[in-house]
Amino acid sequence: MIASYAKLFAAVCGLASTAAAVNPLVVEGKDFVDSVTGERFQMIGVDYQPGGSSGFKGTSDPLSDPASCLRDAAIMQYLGINSIRVYNLAPSANHDECVSIFNAAGIYLVLDVNSPLENGSLNRAAPWESYNDIYMQQVFGIIESFKNFPNVAGFFSGNEVINQDSTEDVPNYIRAVQRDMNDYIAKNSNRTIPVGYSAADVRPMLVDTAYYLSCNLTNATDSRSAFFGLNSYSWCGDATYESSGYNVLTDDFKNVSIPVFFSETGCNAVKPRTFSEIESIYSTNMTDAISGALIYEWTQEANDYGLVQINDNGTITLLTDFINLKAAYDKLDFSAIVASNATQNSIEAPVCDPDFITSNVTKDWDIPTRIAGIDKMINDGYTTNVSVGSLVSVSSTNLTQTIYDPSGNIISGIMLNVLANGTVNKPGGNSTTTTVSSSSSSALPDTASSSSSSIGSSASASTTTGAAVSHRAATISGLGVLVATALLAL
Ligand SMILES: *[C@@H]1O[C@H](CO)[C@@H](O)[C@H](O)[C@H]1NC(C)=O
Ligand SMILES: *[C@@H]1O[C@H](CO)[C@@H](O)[C@H](O)[C@H]1NC(C)=O
Ligand SMILES: *[C@@H]1O[C@H](CO)[C@@H](O)[C@H](O)[C@H]1NC(C)=O
Ligand SMILES: *[C@@H]1O[C@H](CO)[C@@H](O)[C@H](O)[C@H]1NC(C)=O
Ligand SMILES: *[C@@H]1O[C@H](CO)[C@@H](O)[C@H](O)[C@H]1NC(C)=O
Ligand SMILES: *[C@@H]1O[C@H](CO)[C@@H](O)[C@H](O)[C@H]1NC(C)=O
Ligand SMILES: *[C@@H]1O[C@H](CO)[C@@H](O)[C@H](O)[C@H]1NC(C)=O
Ligand SMILES: *[C@@H]1O[C@H](CO)[C@@H](O)[C@H](O)[C@H]1NC(C)=O
Ligand SMILES: *[C@@H]1O[C@H](CO)[C@@H](O)[C@H](O)[C@H]1NC(C)=O
Ligand SMILES: *[C@@H]1O[C@H](CO)[C@@H](O)[C@H](O)[C@H]1NC(C)=O
Ligand SMILES: *[C@@H]1O[C@H](CO)[C@@H](O)[C@H](O)[C@H]1NC(C)=O
Ligand SMILES: *[C@@H]1O[C@H](CO)[C@@H](O)[C@H](O)[C@H]1NC(C)=O
Repeated sequence: MIASYAKLFAAVCGLASTAAAVNPLVVEGKDFVDSVTGERFQMIGVDYQPGGSSGFKGTSDPLSDPASCLRDAAIMQYLGINSIRVYNLAPSANHDECVSIFNAAGIYLVLDVNSPLENGSLNRAAPWESYNDIYMQQVFGIIESFKNFPNVAGFFSGNEVINQDSTEDVPNYIRAVQRDMNDYIAKNSNRTIPVGYSAADVRPMLVDTAYYLSCNLTNATDSRSAFFGLNSYSWCGDATYESSGYNVLTDDFKNVSIPVFFSETGCNAVKPRTFSEIESIYSTNMTDAISGALIYEWTQEANDYGLVQINDNGTITLLTDFINLKAAYDKLDFSAIVASNATQNSIEAPVCDPDFITSNVTKDWDIPTRIAGIDKMINDGYTTNVSVGSLVSVSSTNLTQTIYDPSGNIISGIMLNVLANGTVNKPGGNSTTTTVSSSSSSALPDTASSSSSSIGSSASASTTTGAAVSHRAATISGLGVLVATALLAL
């Protein structure tokens, strides 16, 4: 209701969107960088697809259910992460509230454009058949649905499409899809949104794939990957930097000219997981080569990788893996991993050279031409059955769901902390762990009608004035809880 009021108001008044938001990320050389502060950004995050891909039916998705998003964003703030990856999304679903909640929480999104439904992805056995305007409706629909959100860190053009049997033909098609996505964004988005690829850890093709997708093809329009995601599960149990092979992996990726991060990691061969790899990933051993990691995965599904379990009665249980991951994050020295590095930021893409490819990944960079139907969508924009997104005000911050620890004790006090403009969530930060006592309302000097019930839940739209932004924050002394009233978009 509030959201639609804000949108109606914006439409009627024709106001430009001015929003309290995370700063968009840009790619500079080998790093992601905050476009405003210039700080380096490293992924500290999780893979997020509650219900798994089999739960995806094409009408709703993990970013279309605000109650679940509020619950999960608040718990993720407590965990200390700054990013999530979402795999299966529906262009027609309304994502405004969910994405605004994650934005308010200081959490970025890396989004796959493909869907597991018919015509929703490239067919690796016959990419020339599936690379068509019907498939690209899904791709461009996702871009349209998410292009206006500042916390979209990037789009994945594909996930593990290139495998051992598809090294000959598929890489060219991935570059074709990336070219079309880059062209679509250049034509239809106000912001350059990085487009990258997510690969399985299959040797010896892996490094050649990264090279193939990231080198500079000087004779064609931009089809490069802007970043490279690596799905790797080689660090199990109490492995070490050497025994896991992470030392080799680091050497392999040092020379890749774009940001590389683990788009999935967290071997579960030894349970519970202790996440000893976290220390290495964010240590100086690895940070030049790797821009952080997304842990697979948020919810417990049949394959047993969950950090949390959604219970049938609507409650949520933080599993032992969650507690262990949080402990690993809490030991990180965050200040050390945000320093920018001019050398890293000026690394340039090498010109594509067939001699560099040593595996059976194709040495041919002839990128398939696109058909007229795709051209038309790029020129005109594609919004048929698409819910084109924009930030809305986040109106509730309290959770209705009971949260349990692994022993079944109730954890209280976790709620969404709406962060100040430009603030990214971080480990060991300002996540609420204490229940706010009701007597502190007088600490909110500029809240017109202070009452205890206004603490922790942002004001309703009726307290806003129609000004572009109304953002109030107060720290309740001694509790360290940020209470914010934010009209996020108008
Ligand atoms: C948030 O910060 C950005 C960058 O400094 C600025 O452009 C924008 O106007 C700010 N928005 C609000 C609501 O203060
Ligand atoms: C998939 O694409 C084919 C044409 O390539 C089309 O005939 C079919 O209707 C499409 N299916 C869906 C669900 O869009
Ligand atoms: C590529 O090489 C790998 C081994 O390195 C092999 O398993 C695979 O079958 C080869 N693929 C093709 C298409 O030849
Ligand atoms: C860019 O932003 C302006 C102002 O919000 C808007 O009018 C315009 O439609 C946007 N352009 C695109 C391509 O989204
Ligand atoms: C990495 O790049 C440096 C500088 O361009 C070059 O000297 C070196 O040979 C490269 N290493 C590998 C393994 O490609
Ligand atoms: C860093 O690398 C050194 C040398 O390989 C290794 O001994 C050490 O355990 C590594 N440290 C971490 C935190 O990965
Ligand atoms: C909800 O389900 C969980 C898991 O089965 C259980 O531990 C908890 O006691 C239940 N809570 C309520 C209120 O029924
Ligand atoms: C900056 O990046 C370069 C190239 O990756 C690396 O050799 C150097 O150690 C980095 N400096 C710092 C302070 O991290
Ligand atoms: C690719 O090379 C061309 C020609 O040298 C240059 O203009 C362009 O900036 C390069 N692109 C990238 C991404 O390095
Ligand atoms: C562009 O250059 C690449 C790499 O040299 C080559 O494989 C490709 O055929 C060229 N494409 C065209 C259209 O000339
Ligand atoms: C927590 O928030 C308060 C108020 O915004 C700020 O002064 C403090 O530095 C923050 N602490 C951390 C660890 O981020
Ligand atoms: C939200 O939670 C806070 C802290 O537990 C509480 O003081 C406040 O009354 C709650 N607000 C609403 C609207 O329930």
